[in-house]
Amino acid sequence: MWSRAISFEQGFLTASGLSARDLATQFGTPTFFIDEDHFRERARAWSDSLSLNFGESAGDVYYAAKAFICTDVARWIKEEGIGIDVCTGGELAVALAGGIHPKKIEVHGNNKSVAEIERAVQVGVKTIVIDSLFEIERVAAAATKHGVRQGVMLRLTPGVEAHTHESISTAHEDVKFGFSIASGAAAVAVAQVLSDASLELRGFHCHVGSQIFGTDSFELAATRIIALMKACKEKHGIELPELDLGGGYAIAYLSDEKTVEPEDVLPSLSAVVKRECAAAGLALPIISIEPGRNIVGPTTFTLYEVGTVKDVVLDDGRIRRYISVDGGMSDNLRPSLYGAEYSAVLADRVSTSPHALSRVVGKHCETGDIVIRDIQLPSDIAPGDLLATPATGAYGRSMASNYNHVPRPPVVAIKNGKARVIVRRENEADLLALDVKE
Ligand code: LLP
Repeated sequence: MWSRAISFEQGFLTASGLSARDLATQFGTPTFFIDEDHFRERARAWSDSLSLNFGESAGDVYYAAKAFICTDVARWIKEEGIGIDVCTGGELAVALAGGIHPKKIEVHGNNKSVAEIERAVQVGVKTIVIDSLFEIERVAAAATKHGVRQGVMLRLTPGVEAHTHESISTAHEDVKFGFSIASGAAAVAVAQVLSDASLELRGFHCHVGSQIFGTDSFELAATRIIALMKACKEKHGIELPELDLGGGYAIAYLSDEKTVEPEDVLPSLSAVVKRECAAAGLALPIISIEPGRNIVGPTTFTLYEVGTVKDVVLDDGRIRRYISVDGGMSDNLRPSLYGAEYSAVLADRVSTSPHALSRVVGKHCETGDIVIRDIQLPSDIAPGDLLATPATGAYGRSMASNYNHVPRPPVVAIKNGKARVIVRRENEADLLALDVKE
């Protein structure tokens, strides 16, 4: 749950040797902290494991920028030699600003604008993952305009139900993404791409969903896509060279959960892919994956300061303590949006008080502004205490908002006992910057 450089002993949290109190004094609260070496290590672990399990057929690991990206993190990705998956022009701009080579970039999105497509083609991204028939025409038009043959993949929905929250399950039939295999839409798209000389069909893509424990949904998706690859070979006489199986590998948010590690999933996935390709009479395609949360999530935590506490008596007579922190749904929307569960510790002092049923809430003007719905915390928690919530770095800062005109928190990278701001805190001037004054 805690990043490698974080130690939490006897009530004191330290990150690479820096105490929570010192970090709060230096950077303020709330603040996201990210352990740079751990991030790099996790990126490498996925890449190494892909090579180990797929050998010469190992493609790239494309870090999913949507989990969290900024220019510095893009630089880390470049230095580690992995690729990046971007799904908007904004994410593409950050990837390029971080120096990532266009041939390490894959572009996603179910409704890319013509401007986004043109920019991607113009800078020479490796692959555009096409999501609709409209997009086939739009990407072809951009490729023709720029005089290139653009590498593309088709995003498929293989009809797989992932065991995760409905909002982050993405490969069943009734979903906005991609081409359905079962309905025949995928076969139509294949024929259309192949008929266009400005497009090079590199293969298929599928993303089953997010925060997935277990391997069965990835394996079922791969099996169905390989069946389509076989049908393609029979119909068009071509073997598509690539297969991107997306991201979605779960992480631990609570102490009884276990983060999925590359070696928990890639050996069995590789066995299934090899078996199905052999049965279909296909050469093994280049296999790529797109973990986002799994690389960044475990390397981060958020530090909050407690502002108020109050007790309420519940209908059954129990007491619930409300602990208000100085952030909330503007920096971590996931509890409100998906009912996501997190954990927290008192980070800067020893408490010998008995634990009390507590609810950690934010500072926003609504009841649903909950960071942790139910948690046992020391009953003497008081204003001024620091609370740290682990594993908040994926889809935390990246989904942060300015709700109630709260400035978004900074991101501070920790490495070798030093901490440095990589995304600065917003301020009131930022909040006012877009308002047009007469
Ligand atoms: N590839 C594609 C095409 C995706 O759509 C996604 C996530 C990923 C890769 C990375 O998935 P990951 O490995 O991070 O699970 N906001 C939600 C998650 C939405 C994920 C959307 N797509 C959350 O906070 O749980």
